[in-house]
Amino acid sequence: MTTEIYYFSGTGNSLHVAKELQKRLPQTNLIPLVSLLNQDVIETKGDTVGFVFPIHFATVPMIVKSFIRKMDLKSANYVFAATTREGTPCSSAFKKIEKVLKKKGKSLDSYLILNMASNDPKFKGWHQATVKEIADFESVVQDKLDSFQHVIANKLKYRADDTEITHPVNFFFEFLGSVLSEIPSDYGKAYYADENCSGCGVCEKVCLSQKIKMVDKKPVWQKTVTCFACDACLNFCPAQAVQMRSGRFIKFHTDTNGRYTHPYATVNDIAAQKIME
Ligand SMILES: Cc1cc2nc3c(=O)[nH]c(=O)nc-3n(C[C@H](O)[C@H](O)[C@H](O)COP(=O)(O)O)c2cc1C
Repeated sequence: MTTEIYYFSGTGNSLHVAKELQKRLPQTNLIPLVSLLNQDVIETKGDTVGFVFPIHFATVPMIVKSFIRKMDLKSANYVFAATTREGTPCSSAFKKIEKVLKKKGKSLDSYLILNMASNDPKFKGWHQATVKEIADFESVVQDKLDSFQHVIANKLKYRADDTEITHPVNFFFEFLGSVLSEIPSDYGKAYYADENCSGCGVCEKVCLSQKIKMVDKKPVWQKTVTCFACDACLNFCPAQAVQMRSGRFIKFHTDTNGRYTHPYATVNDIAAQKIME
């Protein structure tokens, strides 16, 4: 009886959740899905397989969805997902995963939604979580993971309620995110480093898509590589020098907003996702 948890995490929230699940479930391997992206087929070995990832644009990150598409899940007789988010609706994430799994003759047996601090400081009014708020999130996360452990260990069916979905505005937002996230676009073209950049290379190290390359001690977001929109570069920069350029229709506020990384997440933790075990 082994469990495999495939995780994706830009700033450590989902990594923390994956680690907490591993603590609760015996014989569990944590596998960073980014480390396997160059494989054509990803073959599982566990009889229980889980996915842990953040919500991006009210749905599952494209990279997670395309990863699951490439999976050979023959070994799995139980599949679960746990997602971390700031708090918008996200039920389309599970519908999309369900659709991919169905084509493989599998289904999503259970899923959990966890509210955690936001790592997305683009917009005006973004709030950097305080130590107290992070601790409050964590206390709910711990309780929910305790219950979820029982669900997984007993291979029960469980669907977390997405309470946000009931509001019409939220419903519209989720619909929009769900549709737009399917359109190929390069989120990463908005990034740049301002004059505070010291050339330390942390952004290149944490960049999960490997879009950033240091050239003459300055980060260059390569046009030929698609960004995973994890915001690790933005949040881990020690000089807060990574910014997002406003577009014609949208104004970003990264120059005045703060940043967020999970209190336990280090640069090496995030960078390690790129390394094959
Ligand atoms: C590009 C981007 C888009 C996001 N979109 C949403 C969203 O639509 N809804 C939401 O609740 N949280 C959203 N978030 C916040 C993250 O889902 C949340 O902070 C998550 O816990 C981060 O997990 P990680 O540290 O494992 O990357 C977004 C974050 C980023 C970077």
